[in-house]
Amino acid sequence: MNRTMIVGCIFCSCISFTAAVKAQQPLYKNAALPVEERVDDLLGRMTLEEKILQLNQYTLGRNTNENNLGEEIGQIPAEIGSLIYFGETPEVRNAMQKRAVEESRLGIPLIFGYDVIHGFRTVYPISLAQACSWNTSLVEDACAMAAMEARKSGVDWTFSPMIDVARDGRWGRISEGYGEDPYANAAFCVASVNGYQGDNLKSPDRVAACLKHYVGYGASEAGMDYVYTEISHQTLWDTYLPPYEAGIKAGAQTVMSSFNDISGTPGSSNHYTMTEILKNRWKHDGFVVSDWSAVPQLIAQGAAVDGKEAARLAFNAGLEMDMMGRCYDKHLEALVNEGKVPMERIDDAVRRILRVKFRLGLFEHPYTPAGEPAERFLLPQSVAVAERLAEESIVLLKNEGGILPLLHPGATSTRNIAVMGPLVDAEKELLGNWNGHGRAEDVYPIRKALQEEFAGRANLLFHTGCPFDGDDRTQFAGALEVARQADVLLLFMGERYSWSGENCVRSTIELPAIQCDFIAEMKKVGKPIVLVLANGRPLALGNVEPLCDAIVEMWQPGVPGGRPVAGVLSGRVNPSGKLSVTFPRTTGQIPIYYNRRKSARPASGKYQDIPSTPLYEFGHGLSYTRFDYGRLSLSKTSVAAGEKLVAQIPVTNAGQCDGAETVHWFVSDPVCRITRPNKELKHFEKQLVKAGETKTFSFEIDPMRDLSFVDADGRRFLEPGEYYIMVGGQKAKLEIHE
Ligand code: GLC
Repeated sequence: MNRTMIVGCIFCSCISFTAAVKAQQPLYKNAALPVEERVDDLLGRMTLEEKILQLNQYTLGRNTNENNLGEEIGQIPAEIGSLIYFGETPEVRNAMQKRAVEESRLGIPLIFGYDVIHGFRTVYPISLAQACSWNTSLVEDACAMAAMEARKSGVDWTFSPMIDVARDGRWGRISEGYGEDPYANAAFCVASVNGYQGDNLKSPDRVAACLKHYVGYGASEAGMDYVYTEISHQTLWDTYLPPYEAGIKAGAQTVMSSFNDISGTPGSSNHYTMTEILKNRWKHDGFVVSDWSAVPQLIAQGAAVDGKEAARLAFNAGLEMDMMGRCYDKHLEALVNEGKVPMERIDDAVRRILRVKFRLGLFEHPYTPAGEPAERFLLPQSVAVAERLAEESIVLLKNEGGILPLLHPGATSTRNIAVMGPLVDAEKELLGNWNGHGRAEDVYPIRKALQEEFAGRANLLFHTGCPFDGDDRTQFAGALEVARQADVLLLFMGERYSWSGENCVRSTIELPAIQCDFIAEMKKVGKPIVLVLANGRPLALGNVEPLCDAIVEMWQPGVPGGRPVAGVLSGRVNPSGKLSVTFPRTTGQIPIYYNRRKSARPASGKYQDIPSTPLYEFGHGLSYTRFDYGRLSLSKTSVAAGEKLVAQIPVTNAGQCDGAETVHWFVSDPVCRITRPNKELKHFEKQLVKAGETKTFSFEIDPMRDLSFVDADGRRFLEPGEYYIMVGGQKAKLEIHE
């Protein structure tokens, strides 16, 4: 037999051996088969106990969320469905995964989840700030960066994006979402899902996304947390569901049920939202995980008498996985045996979880490859994305007399600039809440950034001046001395990162009294004041705005820290941010948001004691240049329902420096069988417009998409009649005819 024949025989025997092995191999382990076939095969092999364990999520490692101190799980069963993973290297995760793959009868891998909200180790700005950038592609890049760091650290699934429309700054979780508008939350939701999941969930750089908190959590009464939300079905469909519908269409694999009670039926036992809408209407084929202990919390909410009833209600409502609630693992088997939970529901739930695990490639690649932290964390390209996003998130709220920028190109200045306030040397506070594995030492200090930015071009005089809160005014005198020597005062004020986020409710959103007193005290020196704010919620600035010549909202920028705002203050960066949430004058105006419905008496019914308008409205943001809006035009002024048209407006940069402008496009339906808000955001576009340049901004209007509305049952309708397209203070009438 010659060499070729030998090789041929070996080859054939390998083929037949492989075929034999595959023939031996259970179908679900055959990666060449379609996911649904593998799910069916595996499900058919599972016992009830194995199925039920897939429906539970415990924690692995020290829980870092003090709001969720649950019992530490001692011996974790190898057949558990999921674990929350608090590590930032994959070793512990892989060891646990090895138990699942090798010790359990069917070798079903675990899925590891974690709160990667605005970064894993490279922390980028809080979501509320990101939305002010109106740069969805940059947000997508940031989420892709976070996904890479997470997946390579052992996390397959992030509990993000948070897309709860919120209009009450007293609610600390307003920091976690994309502001007050449904369309904006939907747009950034899609960007986040695309960033996290990409187009191949099996990629070692991608993670499964989780839309949360489903649904209406942002309507928490009085801004409290974990409480009742009064949401009509009309408002549910109009305001709170659109971001979720967009996220599901974008392919989000999972959804997290919310803590709040939705008009008498808690989010975590709500069949209408989790099954009728999510599964039956939107055909979501992934799964719903509860928020932490939201299943047993049904008892506290008065919906269930005990854990067993809570398990029955939640599970039959369409909640597939119990996060640390210890109700499913304890009660589901009995509920099935008692006929209170149908086996079909168990199978559907397990199918959904297995489907996501197959899609993530966990059966083929259950282990996270080892790697050096330096190979994935704080990479230059990641930090660059975070820095650009932080720059574009900064909102110039006020700039009286053009006091900013403090330096003009090429100009030097021997001016003395006082730099004061509790945030100047508080890097940790700039990370914001839910900062994952972020570290204070990763944050670029404000002091250092300013020193570098103004080196040789101005004299910086530093003094803390005042604390975040409390009543220690002992440093005021020293601060006054410094202020007297300065030509301009930079006051870095705002919030600690722990003042916003979960369970961070504040009765007032004014700055703490001592900060307001400090600003007033500094005002007595008679020098221009630039107030720079770092905060995790909209603030009521009515009491300090008159004291400040300029106000810069820098939010909580993450690792870029002080560099972006130093660039804005010097003029190196032309601010382009615009508010994604309304800033009221006082807390008493809450809830306040732009897309309110119309008043019966528009000229009446206002506050007697203050102007009823916001201090800074949704979409407000100044630039160092001036953008002149030309004439709004419509390609057609009368169309049939199915006919598209294009609205356009030229925007000219009439100033001396280049700038990026975001154009917000609104629609208005003055008369509708279900009343509509004054105006509603339906498109936005951001472009760089160089000095002297004119750029055309466009909005391709599809009436069925942009001018139709939903009724209380979620049925979409488009009425013939008169509509307005609104942009830049202009509006154009559009007729929709039969
Ligand atoms: C928390 C939060 C939720 C988070 C979960 C896991 O209580 O409500 O946003 O994803 O628990 O940490």
